[in-house]
Amino acid sequence: MAASPIPTIDIESLGLDQGALLLIRRALAERPVRGELRVRGRSPDWRMHLEAWCRSQGHALRFDAEDAVVTRGPHAEGRWLGAQTTGSADDVPAEDAASGWGLAARGATVEAGSPPFFFALHRRDELWAATAGELYRQAAAAQWDPATAIDWDAPFELPDAVEAAAVQVMTYLIENENAALLVPARHLGQIHPHFREVLQLLALQCADEARHVEVFTRRATLRGHQPALSTAGGQASLRTLFDAPDFSIATFLLAVLGEGSFVNLLNFLHAHAPDPVTRQIARLAARDEARHVAFGMAHLEYRLSVQPDYQVRLRNAIELRYDTLAGTAGLNEEVFDSLVLLAAGELSPAAVARGHAAVQQLQRDMAAGRRARLSRLGFGPDEAQRLAELHTRNFM
Ligand SMILES: [Fe+2]
Ligand SMILES: [Fe+2]
Repeated sequence: MAASPIPTIDIESLGLDQGALLLIRRALAERPVRGELRVRGRSPDWRMHLEAWCRSQGHALRFDAEDAVVTRGPHAEGRWLGAQTTGSADDVPAEDAASGWGLAARGATVEAGSPPFFFALHRRDELWAATAGELYRQAAAAQWDPATAIDWDAPFELPDAVEAAAVQVMTYLIENENAALLVPARHLGQIHPHFREVLQLLALQCADEARHVEVFTRRATLRGHQPALSTAGGQASLRTLFDAPDFSIATFLLAVLGEGSFVNLLNFLHAHAPDPVTRQIARLAARDEARHVAFGMAHLEYRLSVQPDYQVRLRNAIELRYDTLAGTAGLNEEVFDSLVLLAAGELSPAAVARGHAAVQQLQRDMAAGRRARLSRLGFGPDEAQRLAELHTRNFM
C-alpha cells in the first residue's frame, strides 16, 4: 500500500518575512507531532529563511528536489512551550489567579516569560460575588447623564432656611460620596484582572459615585450658595472606612451598612425633599446605591459560603469601629436639623413636627434595613439588632 502523500503548501513567490510564515505555521499546526509538510516556493532565499525558522522552533527540515519537507517537532508549540492557561472567559474564575497571568484576558494562553504583576487581591474568596457579571451588566445599562436626566431648570421657590438646609444636606452627601468613590477605588487597583466582572463592576461603581458628587454639588450651588459645613465627627466616621483592613471588611462597612443606610436616606429625600431637583437626584442616586449594596451583599454571601468563620471578622469590624468612633459626635446636629427642615418645607411648628417625625421614621427604617441585611449574612436576630445599632451615627 502506498504511503499517503505528504500535504503540500505552495507559498509561491511570497517571502517568509512577507507573510508566508503565517501560512506555513497554520498548515503545520494541522499536522500531528512528527507529521510532515511539504513546502514549495519561489521567493529568493526562502529555503534559507525556512531553515533558520525551523531550527528556532525545533522542527526538522530536509530538502526533496525543489521542495522543503518540514517535520513537526515534539515541541511544536515553539515559543508557546511552557505557556500558561488562564481558565475560561465565561467560567467562574480560578480560586487563585497567578501573578504570571498578568493583564491577560481570562481564558488567554500566556507565553512563558511574561512579566509577573503583583495584585494584592488575587484570591477568589477575597473579592468574588456570584452575581458580579449580572450586576455589571445592570450597572452598564443603568448609567445616566446628569446633564439630561435631571431637569435643572425646574421652577421652585424655597424659604431661605429651607434652601440652606438643602445646601447642608448636599454638603454632607458629597463628603460621603467622596468616601464611596475613593474606598472602592483604592481596592480596585489591587484586584487581579482575572476577576474581570468585579473589576468592571467597581469601575462603574466609581463612575456612579462621580456622578453623585456632581449632582449633589450642582444642587448645593444651584441658587448661588457655596457648600456648607463639614464636621470632624463625620469625617472621622468616613476615615474608618479608609482604614478597614481588607476589601471584604471595607465592603461590609461601606456597602452593606453605609450605602444600605444611604438608600433609606435617598429614598427619604426622594419622598420628602421640598424641591423637584433634589427629589430627582435622590431617586437616581438611590437606584445606583441599591446596586452597590447588592454587590456588597453578594460578595459577603460568597465569602461566608466558602469561609463561614469570616463572620467573626465582620462582628469584630463593627465593634472596633464603634469603639473607634465612641468619642465622636456622630451625625452633626446641622445635618439632622437640615433633614428635619427639608421634610418640613417651612418653619412652622406643625411642619417641623412633621419633619421631625419623618426623620425619626428614617432612622428606624435605616436600623431595620441593617438588621435585615445582617440577618441575611447569618447573624441571629439579637445579634443582628445589637450590631445594627452599633453602626455609626453618621449613617455612612
Ligand atoms: Fe453614591
Ligand atoms: Fe455607592
